[in-house]
Amino acid sequence: MPSLEHLGIAVDDPSAVANLYEQLLGVAPYKTESVREQGVRTHFISGGSTKLELLEALDDDSPVARFLERQGEGLHHIAFEVDDIRATMNRLRDAGFEPLSDAPRSGADGKEIFFLHPKQTHGVLVEFCQSTSVELEPTPIDTEDGPIAAYEAGASSAPPVLLLHGAAGCTALETQPLLRRLEPHAHVLAVDFSGHGASALPEDRFTADLFTRNARAALDHFDIDQADVFGFSMGGSMALHLAYRHPDRVRRIAVHGGCITWDEAQVEAMLQRLDADGLRNHQPQFAAQLEMAHRNWDALFDRMRSFIRTLPDRSDDLQRIASNIEHSTLVSAVDRDDLFSLDAPLGLHQTLPHSRLAVVPGERHALSRLALDAYAPLLRQHFEL
Ligand code: CO
Repeated sequence: MPSLEHLGIAVDDPSAVANLYEQLLGVAPYKTESVREQGVRTHFISGGSTKLELLEALDDDSPVARFLERQGEGLHHIAFEVDDIRATMNRLRDAGFEPLSDAPRSGADGKEIFFLHPKQTHGVLVEFCQSTSVELEPTPIDTEDGPIAAYEAGASSAPPVLLLHGAAGCTALETQPLLRRLEPHAHVLAVDFSGHGASALPEDRFTADLFTRNARAALDHFDIDQADVFGFSMGGSMALHLAYRHPDRVRRIAVHGGCITWDEAQVEAMLQRLDADGLRNHQPQFAAQLEMAHRNWDALFDRMRSFIRTLPDRSDDLQRIASNIEHSTLVSAVDRDDLFSLDAPLGLHQTLPHSRLAVVPGERHALSRLALDAYAPLLRQHFEL
């Protein structure tokens, strides 16, 4: 069902209004974005369970400028997020409503939007919106292991959170939706591990030390002394490694879909997923996504296969690392993960000295299939965001 996504507020002076909300709520705007087509600049503020969208007129003849002239500053519209904006538009048209545009338009914050006229909605301008996936701009970072890519979102004054993707994944394929979810509440950083996504393949083989250095390099680059760290699957192990190696750089940890004890059967299951030719033949759409997302996915899959084969020998090591982590950790998994059984999160939960366990309904290991409506509140609670 549609949910309240944001409240639009027309303002004369965005910095004065931003100051006001900083006094009222203790938060600064986390994003500013111009939508030229509509002659407006938007400033987003987290209102806890919803967002505030401050609307500043860029042109004298823009709809927001006309609103300000007519009514002065104040509430401009309310916006509901829907899953299918076109279906919503058709349904409302059939019901006799007249949307203000013929088709949904691009709005701020990576959304497609349309409005209903307040004449038909008892005096309130109503927006409907649907989130689309936006291409994140990578920040290149030079490291001892070659150039890697990181991504940044949210207000730099907000609590820092670092997102680590899984094996053969990347920010665009895996952690981006979580980044967008957390961006109103946190200073979110995400990194593409060496050889993944927009990061270059390193000269040497993949190791946990390499990926841990990648994560630390991202914190260093953005001058973050200490961050909450979320890691998915292999990224979860790297979050634990980072906390073990550099305990002061990590505040709290969240591991989703992680596994620290590997046997040959798990290695086999993982290697089957890392079969580039098989994916080309049987899942061509997914293969095309991988081709787009990574610089060289064949080389990445090769390296990752070698890395996965080392994991059974490293299980004792991983177990020892986990049992020495002092950080508060949220361990989570979906109840019907198609890669790991519930023994994986249970074992991790029992090994970590300070962990909480959450099991979310779900069928697939893939982070892209995780129900963020269920998981994001748990994560925000754990990270105190
Ligand atoms: Co809006």
